Amino acid sequence: MSDHNYVPSSKLGKWFNDRLPLLTLSAHLREYPTPKNLNYWWTFGGILTFCLITQIVTGIILAMHYVAHADLAFESVEHIMRNVNYGWLIRYVHANGASMFFLAVYIHIFRSLYYGSYKSPREVIWIIGMIIYFLMMMTAFMGYVLPWGQMSFWGATVITNLFSAVPFFGEAITNWLWGGYAVDNPTLTRFFSLHYLLPFLILGLVILHIWALHVPGNNNPIGIDIKKPSKDTVPFHPYIVIKDLFALLIFLILFAFFVFYSPNILGHADNYIEANPMVTPAHIVPEWYLLPFYAILRSVPDKLLGVIAMFLAIFVLVILPWLDTSKVRSAIFRPLYKQFYWFLVADVLILGYVGAMPAEGIYLLVARVATAYYFIHFLVILPVLGFKEKTLDIPLSLTEPVLGGSTNPSLAKNKSELNF
Ligand code: HEM
Repeated sequence: MSDHNYVPSSKLGKWFNDRLPLLTLSAHLREYPTPKNLNYWWTFGGILTFCLITQIVTGIILAMHYVAHADLAFESVEHIMRNVNYGWLIRYVHANGASMFFLAVYIHIFRSLYYGSYKSPREVIWIIGMIIYFLMMMTAFMGYVLPWGQMSFWGATVITNLFSAVPFFGEAITNWLWGGYAVDNPTLTRFFSLHYLLPFLILGLVILHIWALHVPGNNNPIGIDIKKPSKDTVPFHPYIVIKDLFALLIFLILFAFFVFYSPNILGHADNYIEANPMVTPAHIVPEWYLLPFYAILRSVPDKLLGVIAMFLAIFVLVILPWLDTSKVRSAIFRPLYKQFYWFLVADVLILGYVGAMPAEGIYLLVARVATAYYFIHFLVILPVLGFKEKTLDIPLSLTEPVLGGSTNPSLAKNKSELNF
């Protein structure tokens, strides 16, 4: 059934739908033809939607009891933990939820990298995704400041101070960001305001992200274009819905493990000490999900160049659809890319590890090599690989590798049949 021809069965439904076609939209979402070979790495988009909603709901409840004032913030969080009914649960879900959100987003991003989901015609989905990712980092960073513990205060001090490296205007920018001459109450209140606002901006962008996804439809593990609807697709409901729910259930078990058994393992003990501008912690480290960028920042000896390198590390991802010159999407058919992909995964993990270590000696050396490799991967290896790599034969349809038939693209009657 084509969703454009959808007619609601009830009279009331038809009356309403003629005025605002929400029922047509819902039919479109249910019928949406999805490639039938999607694996579990494709369930993370749904998991991410769940994470976002969880963060918004728990965040709104926390905000009912939290006090955004430098003298009261720390105490108000303790009040939530001890006195508010189930306050401990809501706070632990929100704090660990941020980590789970980033875990899911990293899987979602690396899934896209492996299967080439960022390539034409899905560049806009990818770029919206990168904006979401950037806003997620901003939101998480500002959220971490709110409990006004030692790591909150010093993390905010280190990161906002980075802007002082900007030539001529550095000091003016930092003072403007702080709302004064140091991280203090005005900084806390504006961070709270933005921390509340940004998730709704992210929500809007997620709607655009999914809208943009529904134009070309999903990529798939084989990475070839498919006809929609066809024997290569299944309707989103119930097939994908039930699979997404099953994956979410497994994800929730891990989530619950953190919340109920190790709620503070991902945090830093120093954040249970109230912020004190007179005492600097021995090691100031951000949350685990920001560590690779922190490592890149510190690996460059010059402050300004370090900040530029950190932003460039995100920017190369934004322009990735144009850096990767290969026409073949999925790593399954790209033997060399597949190896470099895993090198990149290792590289980012190493960056994360050294980001948590003091920036000296062997850690600093490793951070420098890993930072250099990160940029070489995107700026040298990917552009060259597209021209040099000998890719494997690509099947003509999703069913072909299962039901037999030729996998030799040269047997296609014309190039457009290959559609990759
Ligand atoms: C709040 C965060 C996000 C949410 C809720 C979200 C949601 C979704 C959903 C529901 C899908 C379709 C199902 C799937 O492919 O898993 C999807 C696809 C996609 N997302 Fe995201 N996403 C988020 C962040 C990101 C980020 C940060 C990126 C990358 C920078 C990204 C890149 C993509 C791409 C390229 C696709 C197309 C996948 C394909 O069909 O192969 N997304 N997203």
